Amino acid sequence: MPKQIKLIVANWKMNGNLLHNEQLLNNLKKSFINYQPACKIVVCVPTPYLAQVQSLCTNTKIHWGAQDISIHPKGAFTGEISVSMLQDFNVSYVIVGHSERRRYHHESTIEVIQKAQTALKSQITPIICIGETLKEYQANHTQAVLQKQITTIAKQLGREVNRSIIAYEPIWAIGTGKTATPKYVQNIHTMLRTQLKNINSEIDDVCILYGGSINASNAKQLLSQKDIDGGLIGSASLDSQQFLEIIKATDPLI
Ligand code: PGA
Repeated sequence: MPKQIKLIVANWKMNGNLLHNEQLLNNLKKSFINYQPACKIVVCVPTPYLAQVQSLCTNTKIHWGAQDISIHPKGAFTGEISVSMLQDFNVSYVIVGHSERRRYHHESTIEVIQKAQTALKSQITPIICIGETLKEYQANHTQAVLQKQITTIAKQLGREVNRSIIAYEPIWAIGTGKTATPKYVQNIHTMLRTQLKNINSEIDDVCILYGGSINASNAKQLLSQKDIDGGLIGSASLDSQQFLEIIKATDPLI
């Protein structure tokens, strides 16, 4: 079932600094004094800024999350971030398996699922990214690639998928300015929903986001599709005005 309330997730990636983050979040908070967002908002920020974002966003309409998580609880894993560290900052969401991590850190789908399980065990909602490469897209392999990814997720996580978020991000659309058309994404999301349910009939409540070059001008068309439950926004989330426009694009009254 598609969700009633859309979810807008910012993925800051490795961007921002103390001053920029403060201005961006304060601008958003100011806008929400006169405007009540129709969607749920999450910002996934670089780990060093979690404390700052927690202090700026507690008791506001903005929720926060991390961009990765270790599968290990603690120990000699230099550079890794454990689930309890995220909990120290009241993190409620974590992106797992973003294509940039799969590509630059060689994360496999199995490892990504283990990360999702680690988060779920601690009541942190994983945002599990899937998507096809440009080569796979051009070769018409999108369906097959996605079905394989989503099948593994459904089999390993079972009905825990209902407590997770799936983000469909065609890799060829990330940071390239090339957006998939609303109809294309709608069809993919329907296919993903059907496939999940076919594998496990208890999976019927999953939130499926689209990500890949969403901006203020294409957001409305994409986000008004029935099976697109929201967006994962990279570069356009770094500008408060653009991000606000995307948030407003989920509002049926605007
Ligand atoms: P983009 O990034 O909006 O800059 O394309 C989306 C993402 O990678 O999550």
